[in-house]
Amino acid sequence: MENSMILKQADWIKAPGDFGDICPVFRKPFALPKKAADATLLISAIGVYEAEINGKRVGDFVMAPGWTDYKHRVQYQEYDVLELLGDKNTLEITLGKGWSGEFTWFQNRGYPEYPSPAVICALKLGYADGSSDVILSGEGFEAAKSNILFSDIYDGEVFDARHCEREWTPAPVADYPKDILIPQQGEYVREIEEIKPAELVRTLAGGGRKVGEKIIDFGRNITGYVKFRTCLPEGSVIEIRHAEVLREGGSARFYTDNLRNALQKITYIAGGGQAEYKTHFTFQGFRYIRLDKWAGDVDPDDFTAVVVHSDIRRTGYFECSNEKVNKLFQNIIWTQRGNFLDVPTDCPQRDERCGWTGDAQIFIRAATYNFDVAKFFEKWLADMALEQFEDGGIPAIVPNTLGELYANNAAWGDAAVICPWQVYLTYGDKRILTAQFGCMRKWVDFLREEAGESLTWPEGFYFGDWLALDNGEGAFEGATPHDFIATAFFAYSARLLIKAGKVLGADMGRYEELYANIVYAFQNRYITGGELAVKTQTAHAVALKFGLCGDAKENIAKDLAGLVAANGDKLNTGFIGTPYLLHALSENGYAETAYSLLLREDYPSWLYSVNKGATTIWEHWDGIKEDGSFWDPDMNSFSHYAYGAVADWMYGAICGIDTDEDAPGFENAILRPLPDRRLDHAKASIDTKFGTLSSGWSFDGDTVIYEFEVPNRATVVIGGRICEVGKGVHRFVSCGDGTLSRVSRTTDTGNGQ
Ligand code: BGC
Repeated sequence: MENSMILKQADWIKAPGDFGDICPVFRKPFALPKKAADATLLISAIGVYEAEINGKRVGDFVMAPGWTDYKHRVQYQEYDVLELLGDKNTLEITLGKGWSGEFTWFQNRGYPEYPSPAVICALKLGYADGSSDVILSGEGFEAAKSNILFSDIYDGEVFDARHCEREWTPAPVADYPKDILIPQQGEYVREIEEIKPAELVRTLAGGGRKVGEKIIDFGRNITGYVKFRTCLPEGSVIEIRHAEVLREGGSARFYTDNLRNALQKITYIAGGGQAEYKTHFTFQGFRYIRLDKWAGDVDPDDFTAVVVHSDIRRTGYFECSNEKVNKLFQNIIWTQRGNFLDVPTDCPQRDERCGWTGDAQIFIRAATYNFDVAKFFEKWLADMALEQFEDGGIPAIVPNTLGELYANNAAWGDAAVICPWQVYLTYGDKRILTAQFGCMRKWVDFLREEAGESLTWPEGFYFGDWLALDNGEGAFEGATPHDFIATAFFAYSARLLIKAGKVLGADMGRYEELYANIVYAFQNRYITGGELAVKTQTAHAVALKFGLCGDAKENIAKDLAGLVAANGDKLNTGFIGTPYLLHALSENGYAETAYSLLLREDYPSWLYSVNKGATTIWEHWDGIKEDGSFWDPDMNSFSHYAYGAVADWMYGAICGIDTDEDAPGFENAILRPLPDRRLDHAKASIDTKFGTLSSGWSFDGDTVIYEFEVPNRATVVIGGRICEVGKGVHRFVSCGDGTLSRVSRTTDTGNGQ
C-alpha cells in the first residue's frame, strides 16, 4: 500500500482539553517481536512537531511539517528510523502550534477549522522474514504535558527544564480530514550553520557605575535561534530577548521597538546540572541577544547562534573590485537565507513573517540565481494556486491567513504570473508552467474582468510604489498613481502569460489581442508627445522594462536619466520601481547612470546601509537615518529582501548574464556584460543544470579582457557585436579604439565559431 494510504489509516491526535499553552507530548511504547529490517516513520501535524524514538531525535527537519495552505494540504515527512530501534521502544512526539496558531499582527487564527494542533503518524515496520507491521497514531497513544510551557513563532518559548513526573492519559482523537495529507513537496528546513559570538557588549546603567544590559553580538543578522549551555542551580530563571539592531548610544541600546508585538523571548527554568538548550517551535530574526536574567558571569563561548532556513543549494556568486558592493551582495544572500524558511517571507522578526506575494515577485530573479529554489517555489506556488479565489483574485500573502484583506493588489497579485515564468526561465523546466498555468490564466482573466472596457484598473486598494521616496517624508506610498501601476502590470502579466502559453502549446490568440489592446490603452492614456504623463522614476522604469513605450522608448529612457539627474543623481523608487530602475537605464544606453546609482554611498542608496554597518537588506532606504535615529518602529525591518533585487542587475548587467527565452535554463546563455571604469574587475557565476556558467571582465589600461565559462552554449554580446559560442572557456579583448578580438577558446565542443 502506498505510504499516504497507510498514513491516512491513522488518527489525528491532540492534547487533552486542559493543557492550555503547554505543548503536549505523545508517547507510544512498543516492543519488536523480531528483528526489523526496515522502519519508516510517516508523520505530519497541524502545528509543528518533533519526534523521538528512545530519546533520539527523528530526522533534522526544523519546524516540520512546514507551512502550506492547511485548509487544502499539509505535507507529511518520511524518516528512516531503523537505526533508532531496539527490542523495546518508545516513540515520543512533541507538538507546538507553529503557524496553525494566532498569526499576523491581527493575531487571528488562520485556520479556525483546526481549533487545536494535532499530529498524525504511522510507523511502518518490515521484518527480515518478509512480514510487516504498522503502528498508527490513535488507539494506545497517550498524552502528557511536555516541558515546553509556551511556544509561539513570534513570542518565543518558555521551557521548564526541571524534572516532573508526567501524568499520561489517553490522547484524544481530533476529527480532522486526512485527504489533506500530501508527501513532502518543498525543501527540508534545517539548521544550516552555527555562528559564535563576535563580542559581548555591556552597557552602563545610571551614572555609568553598574552594568546595565548584557548583550551578545553574533556579528550578523540571521534567522534561527540561540543555543546555550548552562549549569545554573535548579529553578534559576534565564530570560533572553532578541533584536536586529542596537541604538547608537546611551545606556539602553537594545532595540526591540521594530518587533512590534513579537516578543522574541526565551524563558528557561534550569533543571540543575549541566544542560544545553535551544528552542523547539519558534525562530527569531536577530543579530543580538540581551540576557535579561542570567545569574553569574557571561561566557560568550556558552552561546551559539544557529542559522535555520530551507536547505536550498547555493548557486550564484558575484565578486568585484569594490568591497562595499561585495558586502551588499553578501547582505542580499543573507537576507534570502533569513527569509527562505519554508515560504518566501517579507521579514523574519516582527509579527508578520508572511509569504507576501509582492516581495517574492520583486526578488524572484535574484532568488533563482542565488540559490536553486525550483522546489521551494514549486511548493509555494502550488499553495498560491490553491489559495486563489474563485474569481481568479490572488491573496496578499500565501499561505493566506488574511482572507481577502489586501488581496488583488497590482504587483502583489502579479506574483502569480511573474514567479512561475522566472522559475521557468532560470531552470528551464516546463513543469512549473504546466502546474501553474491555470492560476496564471485565471489571474489575467480576473484583471480583464476588473479592468472593464477601459482596460485600466478601477480604484481599489493598492499598496502602490510601496515605501518610495517621491511622495514626501515618511510616506508609505510613492507618487506613481495606482492606475498607472495597475495597467502596466496588467500588460506585463498578459505578456508573460502569452509566452507561457506558447511554451505549453496553448492557443493564445485571445490574449494576444487583449495584450495589444492593453498596450494601446496604456499608450493612449499615459504617453503624449513622446513623453510619459507620470513624471516619476518608477513610472519610467516600469514602462521601459515592460516594453510599453513603443516609439517613445528612446525619449522616455532619456527622461528617466533626466529624472535621476534632477533628483541630485539619486533614486527615489520604492518596491515597484526599484527592481527595474537600473535595468531600464542600462538597457537603454544609460549604464553609466545605473552604475552611479549602484555605487552611490550616501542616502538614499544601497551602499548607504552598508556604510551604516548593515549585514542584511533593510526594508527602508533609511531604516537607520543619518543621525542614527530609526524609521518609524511600526514598520522597520532590517531583513527585507525587496531592494536586494539589485543582485539581478549585478548578475544581469555588470556581468551581463541573462537567460534566453528560446533556450531557458541556460541551455543557451546570453552574455552581455557592461564594464564600467569605476570597477577594475567583476565576475559572476551561476551553477546551471549544464554546469557552471560564469562571466567576468577586468580592465588593463584601456583594454577590457572578458572571460566566459560556458557550460553549453551562449550568445556573447560585446559593444553591439554578437558572437555565438559553444561549451568552453572563451576570452575576448576589447581595446580602447573599439576593436574586439577573440583571444582564445579552450575545450570548445559546441557549435560556436
Ligand atoms: C510587508 C511588506 C509587504 C507590505 C505590503 C508589509 O508589512 O512587510 O513587505 O509587501 O506590507 O505593502
